[in-house]
Amino acid sequence: MECRTGIQTDAPRRRTVLPTDTLGSARPEAVRWRPATLADVDDLWHFTRMVGRADHPYHLTTREGIERDFGLSYFHPEQDSLIGFAPDGTLVAMGMVMSPPLRELRARSILVGGVHPDYRGRGIGRELLAWQLGRAAEQLATAAPTVPRWILAYTDEAAYRNARLFRRLGMECARYFQSLERRLDQPIPDIDLPGDVRVVRFTAELSQAAHEARDSSFQDHWASQPMSDEAWDFFVASGKFRPDLSYLALGTGPDGTEKVVGFTLATVTEDDWVNQGYTGSHVDLVGVIDGWRGKHIARALLAAHLRAARTEGLARVTLIVDSESPTGALNLYLGMGFTPTTRRLAFTVEL
Ligand SMILES: CC(C)(COP(=O)(O)OP(=O)(O)OC[C@H]1O[C@@H](n2cnc3c(N)ncnc32)[C@H](O)[C@@H]1OP(=O)(O)O)[C@@H](O)C(=O)NCCC(=O)NCCS
Repeated sequence: MECRTGIQTDAPRRRTVLPTDTLGSARPEAVRWRPATLADVDDLWHFTRMVGRADHPYHLTTREGIERDFGLSYFHPEQDSLIGFAPDGTLVAMGMVMSPPLRELRARSILVGGVHPDYRGRGIGRELLAWQLGRAAEQLATAAPTVPRWILAYTDEAAYRNARLFRRLGMECARYFQSLERRLDQPIPDIDLPGDVRVVRFTAELSQAAHEARDSSFQDHWASQPMSDEAWDFFVASGKFRPDLSYLALGTGPDGTEKVVGFTLATVTEDDWVNQGYTGSHVDLVGVIDGWRGKHIARALLAAHLRAARTEGLARVTLIVDSESPTGALNLYLGMGFTPTTRRLAFTVEL
């Protein structure tokens, strides 16, 4: 399985006609479909864990994550979700279509879902994906005509059936996201910082400034856009976010005032440790704002996290990086002792 390499443009493949209306057509498995509701959260959590164990066993969806989705102001389960049941009542498929607000750089609809491992190869995923593409097209129809409109779906490379299905329905693999891990029993380098920069632990008082730094630094990150306050608050208030393992770089500007110029924000999901085979933390977000790059700030922030994670008694640190990051993030992590493990593929189609 290979993504296109040497991509000349960041824009995904354009298509004008999406498959819709396939629900109700003759199908091999008589699946009964309905939208999900909040009452389904526990069933969906068990279902996504089962799908996850088959497709991406090292990072399973948490119950809090599913509940969070149902609490998002822009997710309307009645229109944006579909779950399917076999005749015996078994939950066999789940699909959601999420279109985050703040469509400043681009409008996105993100497809999430899966089919029960015992019910694959029967056309159920195809039917579900066709519905998701149609729903995404409806969501994106409300975007300003001036911004690009992207449908996005991600899958682990090992889950080859997902990638095959995305391709069949007209999506294209645009990007690899490389998972990396770093053992903590190996030396952690001391990084010298310029005199006008200091590294501190994340605090609630600096949360808003960190959010601004995140939005500013991720402008050149593929498929990214500003995070809404809602999404940011969910992230920093979630049970897995670890402020004590997250760091901010404060830089002093020419006017003598300090501001957040960089960050490493980390989570710990103990549920994943059994499948991973080690205890670990995950660095979810790393960024340094323009004007402060190339001063080893990201290295220093990562080193601070690695040290804190080791002091915590954890064995490894993981993260995921766009393998074609225009700002050199992959080199940064390789230089800090991270090594590649699995890959995630990003599939896109532009409307
Ligand atoms: C990636 C990013 C965090 C780097 O921050 P930074 O503070 O400039 O990085 P550092 O100065 O610590 O650089 C450390 C190493 O990274 C690598 N690196 C950094 N920028 C690079 C670039 N543009 N091209 C190639 N390698 C680069 C180099 O190996 C560098 O080591 P060197 O200075 O000894 O050559 C920053 O550019 C950024 O915020 N990018 C946008 C957001 C993003 O992509 N985050 C990562 C998401 S996974």
